Formats: sequence, structure tokens, C-alpha cells
Amino acid sequence: KSVVHGLWKGSLSVGMLSPRLQRAVKDYLNNNKHGVAYRGHRKALQNGQQVLCELKKRQKVRTLDGAEKPFSNLGWQKIVPALPLSQIYGSGFQTCAVVTSAGAMLHSGLGKEIDSHDAVLRFNTAPTKGYERDVGNKTTVRIINSQILANPKHQFNTSSLYKNVTLVAWDPAPYTLNLHKWYSNPDYNLFTPYMEHRMHYPAQPFYILHPKYIWQLWDVIQGNNLENIQPNPPSSGFIGILLMMSLCEEVHVYEYIPSLRKTDLCHYHERYFDAACTLGAYHPLLYEKMLIQRMNVGSEEDLKRKGKVTLPGFRNVHC
Ligand code: C5P
Repeated sequence: KSVVHGLWKGSLSVGMLSPRLQRAVKDYLNNNKHGVAYRGHRKALQNGQQVLCELKKRQKVRTLDGAEKPFSNLGWQKIVPALPLSQIYGSGFQTCAVVTSAGAMLHSGLGKEIDSHDAVLRFNTAPTKGYERDVGNKTTVRIINSQILANPKHQFNTSSLYKNVTLVAWDPAPYTLNLHKWYSNPDYNLFTPYMEHRMHYPAQPFYILHPKYIWQLWDVIQGNNLENIQPNPPSSGFIGILLMMSLCEEVHVYEYIPSLRKTDLCHYHERYFDAACTLGAYHPLLYEKMLIQRMNVGSEEDLKRKGKVTLPGFRNVHC
């Protein structure tokens, strides 16, 4: 097998993870916390164009619109933004940047390039302040997991990270999409803080991703592998990339597929080291990355130097 910047060409397998990470994957498979029961096909090694077509067909960005129970009974139709996420930016953006939080962003000097895009997506608690040279300072959309809303340490209500941006939150629901079960037992309770935030700041676009969207993305990842992938939702990174592919003509993703700066440093903004951040333990991150790498239309040089993958927006995918 030929090694490509620390990731691999061809079929990827869990055997390439360290024994510790392999054990973690096995535990997640045995535990199957979200009750995943995949019934679709399994076809390894589809080429990039086939993957693009399948994603285009199966992804349809969907957020909670309050029309389904139990949300309808709780008056959520008046709580969610009037316009769906797919419509707030009119005809969308020309070029977009997805900035992962990987440690390899440090010393990248990519800030100017990132800010030159029409829209920039960032994740969770990733800051720009103090890191402008490497990650830029423009933020258009921020994807946040439910822990950010539920854990007071993140200061969701007061931190400037979550102001003047479009917020997109998510939480793992049961694979069966039982919304009642999800509402009464989310991973972290994001529903109450979401409602409160909506009432205080009705003008800020703030959405919760529909679990159907998340699990459909997972299905595409599993459908492209012969082995069982982790039965847990895709990472925020994968979700964010797909979201931007529906809003932009062209998407530039930074340090999702690692550059030559590849490091075990988990986040560029924290001194914490763990290979699982880049390769995945809970999330099927390695499999996500193989799919994304296959769709790359950018150059080898961009991948090596910038950790940059270039993807067409779905409007530019013709199947
Ligand atoms: O850790 P967090 O989920 O906030 O990071 C945002 C996203 O960036 C992850 O979901 C993952 O897709 C990507 N990431 C990565 N490698 C890292 C850290 C984050 O690919 N070392």
C-alpha cells in the first residue's frame, strides 16, 4: 500500500489504526448506543464522481422545522427561524472555506487565503482570536455539537464565538429517528438552551440539524465500505463539509485530510495530544476522510502544503 501524506490510497481499514483505537472501534460496535441497523448496500471503492452523485442524491440538508411531534406540540414552529437554512443566503456563495480545528492548522499561514472565501465555516469552540495568521478571522457559519449548548463551561450565552454568525447545532438521535425518544433523552440536552436562545435572539439564524440528515450521511459512508464502520454519527467536520457543498459553488476544506504538518496535536487551540482526533474513535472519521479524499478535485500540492481538498458544490455535480 502506498502512503499518501499519512493517509492511504485504496481501501482503508480499521487495521490501520493503533491497537488502542481498534479496541475503541470494537467497543463502539458492540455497544451500538444509537441502535444502528443498516439495511442498505455495501459497495467498496466507488470512484469520486460516483460518490459525489450518491451524496447529491441522498443528502438534502434538513433542519428541525417544528412540524413534527413532539416539537409541533411544543410550539416549535414559531420558535425555529422562519426561513430554512438553504434559503437565508439567497443563491448561495461562490467559494467557501471549511476550517477544521486540527492541530495541523498551526503555522499554516493560511489565514489570508481562508478569509478570501465568500463564506467560512468553523466548528465548536475553535477560536480565531490570536490565531488569525493561521486560520483567518472571518466566520459565517459555526457548527456546534450539543455539548456546547449543554455544558456551562462553554459559556454559550455570553461567548463572542457564538454571536454574529449562523449557528447550526446537532445531537445524536436514535438511528430509528424516534423524535420522542430523542427529545426525552438527547446525548446532551440542547433543546432547552436552544429555545431560550431563540427567544432572546430571534434575529440570529440558529438551526438544529434533523437527525435524518445526519444518519443519511452516515448511510452513505457505511454504504461505501465492506466492513462495519462505527455506528455513531459522522464528525462535525464531515457534516460541515456536506452542508457547505449544498450552499456553495466550490468548497475548500483545510486540514481535514492532513498536510505534511500532520500532528497528534488534537486542536490548534489546545495543548492536548491524541491521534484519535485525526483518525477517529467515536466518529467513523477515517472512513469519512477516505470518501472526501476520493472526491478531491484539487492538486496534490495543495493537499501536501495546505491540507486542502477542493470539492464542487452540489449544483456543479452533474450525474
Ligand atoms: O474536535 P472538533 O469536533 O471540534 O473538530 C471539528 C472537526 O474537525 C472534527 O469533527 C473533525 O472532522 C475535524 N478534525 C480533524 N482532525 C483533528 C481535529 C478535528 O479532522 N485533529
